[in-house]
Amino acid sequence: MPAVTKPGPNDLESYWLPFTPNRAFKQAPRLFARAKDMHYFTAEGRAVLDGTAGLWCSNAGHCRDPIVAAIQRQAEELDYSPAFQFAHPQAFELANRIAALAPGDLNRVFFCNSGSEAVDTALKIALAYHQVRGEGARSRLIGRERGYHGTGFGGISVGGIVANRRSFGTLLTGVDHLPSTYSREHQAFTRGEPDWGAHLADELERIVALHDASTIAAVIVEPMAGSTGVLPPPKGYLQKLRAICDRHGILLILDEVITGFGRLGCAFAAERYGVTPDMIVFAKGVTSGAVPMAGVIAGDRIYTAFMRGPEHVIELFHGYTYSAHPLACAAGLAALNLYRDEKLFERARALEAKWADAAMALQGLPGVLDIRTVGLTAGIDLAPRLGAPGARAAEAMNRAFHDEGLMIRITGDTIALCPPLIVREAQIGEMFVKVAKVIRAVT
Ligand SMILES: Cc1ncc(COP(=O)(O)O)c(C=O)c1O
Repeated sequence: MPAVTKPGPNDLESYWLPFTPNRAFKQAPRLFARAKDMHYFTAEGRAVLDGTAGLWCSNAGHCRDPIVAAIQRQAEELDYSPAFQFAHPQAFELANRIAALAPGDLNRVFFCNSGSEAVDTALKIALAYHQVRGEGARSRLIGRERGYHGTGFGGISVGGIVANRRSFGTLLTGVDHLPSTYSREHQAFTRGEPDWGAHLADELERIVALHDASTIAAVIVEPMAGSTGVLPPPKGYLQKLRAICDRHGILLILDEVITGFGRLGCAFAAERYGVTPDMIVFAKGVTSGAVPMAGVIAGDRIYTAFMRGPEHVIELFHGYTYSAHPLACAAGLAALNLYRDEKLFERARALEAKWADAAMALQGLPGVLDIRTVGLTAGIDLAPRLGAPGARAAEAMNRAFHDEGLMIRITGDTIALCPPLIVREAQIGEMFVKVAKVIRAVT
């Protein structure tokens, strides 16, 4: 049989972009050819300031030499090692380094390749954990309205964003949701964690009363809901959730895919809020976005519960071909070294007040309904256009990219900002001057 070769078109049609309006994009594409530190560059060489650390992931900035070199070295030395039944030294080293950053007894790291996989992994570990302990009736999973936990069936089931759920059938059964912690009426223009809203954690008690604790496996929340528009947790909210989970034997999973690796000024948000969950889900910043990697950090108690039965038998029937991929581990180790050597988590903390000042200075611009900040993140809600939700922010993103040389992220009519942690003070100023110009231009 002759090989089938089609003449390959050099156009934009074959690529189906994720979470992107494909037709609009292909009419006016936004393409990057390279990146360095705080900037992307288009093919024509135009610099675009990175206001969103790529997609909340490039915390150390772009194409950092030590990370590039580590990936290059690793590609020459060991390109791939099977993830099942075999391993390689960097996987253990990285697991130890990550465990050392995590609070309490969170010492066991299960590697995945994306936040979505890591979320599903954590949910599966929670279910299996209760089963190995003889509490298999604990099968319900509790998420939160406006939560984002990636796009796997587990993640969209516990997630609370309607557009991500409505087209995909019945999802997982036995899932319930806490209410969102956001109220514009009570929280508008708050810097950091709002005073109002801790009582919303008590809704977990209502859910427990409805289903009975003996049927509930785990609660999963983002410490700061990122993808839905930067919603910092109300003061005391996470501590309350922890206490209620403890009272009822329910596992608490913090999805730190965005908040991990310095975004809120600590290795993990768990540290910022003094809450030790039973599992942390991480991704993105672990390699500063340079190679896909994600994972779950589980407590000793959880890991050891599985270590029973004959020793030649697999304890957890779960994993991925590319779990702990050598290139990802090399990038991860180099990224963690950069975070440590350049004190980037501390840097995020030190810049937080200036960042919040710069963001809040946009209050009063036409059509700005709310601004929220925490760590090096900001969410800016714009008034939607009548009958065209999302159109104003979409225009803002386009104008920022084409006219101002700035990359911003949008969700609905909210602008989200979360620069690499290497951002300089002058660049923070530049970023918000550009955002202000864009907001004026779209109102
Ligand atoms: C909190 C949270 N969980 C999970 C995910 C999914 O990660 P991924 O896109 O790598 O699957 C994201 C992505 O933004 C996220 O913000």
